[in-house]
Amino acid sequence: MDATGRTERFGGALGLDARATAGLLVLATRAPSLHNSQPWRFRLCPDRIELRADACRRLPVADPTGREQRIGCGAALYTLRLALVGAGIRPIVTRVPDARDPDLVAVVRRGGTVRASAEQQRLLDAVPRRRTHRRPFRETPVPGTARSALCRAAFEEGAWLQLVTEPAELVQLGTLAREAHTRQARDPAFAAEVAAWTGDAGVRDDGVPASAGGPRPAPVRPGRAPGNGPLIGVLSVHVDGPREDLRAGEALQRVLLTATAEGLAASFLSPLVEVPDVRDRVRRLLGGTRPPQVVLRLGHGAAGPATPRRAPVVEPG
Ligand SMILES: Cc1cc2nc3c(=O)[nH]c(=O)nc-3n(C[C@H](O)[C@H](O)[C@H](O)COP(=O)(O)O)c2cc1C
Repeated sequence: MDATGRTERFGGALGLDARATAGLLVLATRAPSLHNSQPWRFRLCPDRIELRADACRRLPVADPTGREQRIGCGAALYTLRLALVGAGIRPIVTRVPDARDPDLVAVVRRGGTVRASAEQQRLLDAVPRRRTHRRPFRETPVPGTARSALCRAAFEEGAWLQLVTEPAELVQLGTLAREAHTRQARDPAFAAEVAAWTGDAGVRDDGVPASAGGPRPAPVRPGRAPGNGPLIGVLSVHVDGPREDLRAGEALQRVLLTATAEGLAASFLSPLVEVPDVRDRVRRLLGGTRPPQVVLRLGHGAAGPATPRRAPVVEPG
C-alpha cells in the first residue's frame, strides 16, 4: 500500500481528512537528509502533528551528535509548514518542546487560516523538483538576483547564508575540503557507514542509489575565478543546539527550494562540517563566531534522477 493508504489508518489531523494529511506528509518527506536516511517519524493527533527524530536512523560515525539528523528533520518541518500553508492552514510550531524528550523535535498546530503568497506557492511547487546535485556544474555565473533571493531565504528563517567569493578564502576552503575528505575516506568506520547507505541498485526505499550519482561530491576546486560557475554558500545560525540545528534545517530547505525555483542546482560539501576541527577552521576562516551548519555549492547543472522515499512512518496519536 502506498503512503496515503498507510497514513489513512491513523486518520487526519488539524481539521484535514486522512488523505489530505497523508499528502502533506508525503510532501514533507521529500526533504533532504544525510545519505537519504529519512530520519523522521510523525504522530498524528486531531489537534497536532508531532515530528520526531528517529533514533534508529542516526548515522553515528558521520553525525555522532545528531546535528545533521536534526537538520534533516528541520528540512522536513519547513516543507510541512509550506504544505500546510498550501492547504490554507497557518501552522503554529513549537520546536523541541520537552528537554527530557529531545527526539520530539516539533509540534505543529493549527493557527487559523491563511492563503499562500505567490512566493510560498513557488517554493511549494519546487518541492517535487528539488534534487541534490551530484554532477558537474556549468561555468555559468549565478545572477545577482538569485544570490539575493538565496540569502534572503536563509535570513527569513533566522539563519545566514554567507556566499564565499574572496579568491583567497575559496582556495583555503578547497584545501580544507580536501583534507576533511581524505581524513574521512581513511576511516574504515566512516567508509563502512557510507557503503551501508549508498550505491544500491535501486531496490531500497532509502539511501542514495548508484543512479543518483555517487555518495560524495568531489572537494572544492581551488583557485576558481570569482563569479564563474557555482557559488559556495555557508549556512549558519547563532550556535549549536537542538533548536538551532532544527532552524538551520528549516533555513536549508528554504534556500534549496529557492535555488530550485531560480533554476539552480545545489550540492553539499559536508566533510567541511563533519570533521570537528575542520569545521572550526572553516568558522575562523570566514571570520565568524557562528559555527557553519551546512556548506553548499549552488549553480547551474542538469537535474539528476530523484532519490526514493519510504512511505511516511506514522505512529498512532
Ligand atoms: C545535513 C545533510 C548533509 C548532506 N551531505 C551530503 C554530502 O556530503 N554529499 C552528498 O552527495 N549529499 C549530501 N546530502 C544530500 C542527501 O544525500 C540527499 O538529501 C538525499 O540523498 C536525498 O536526495 P535528494 O536531496 O535529491 O532528495 C546531505 C543532506 C543533508 C540534509
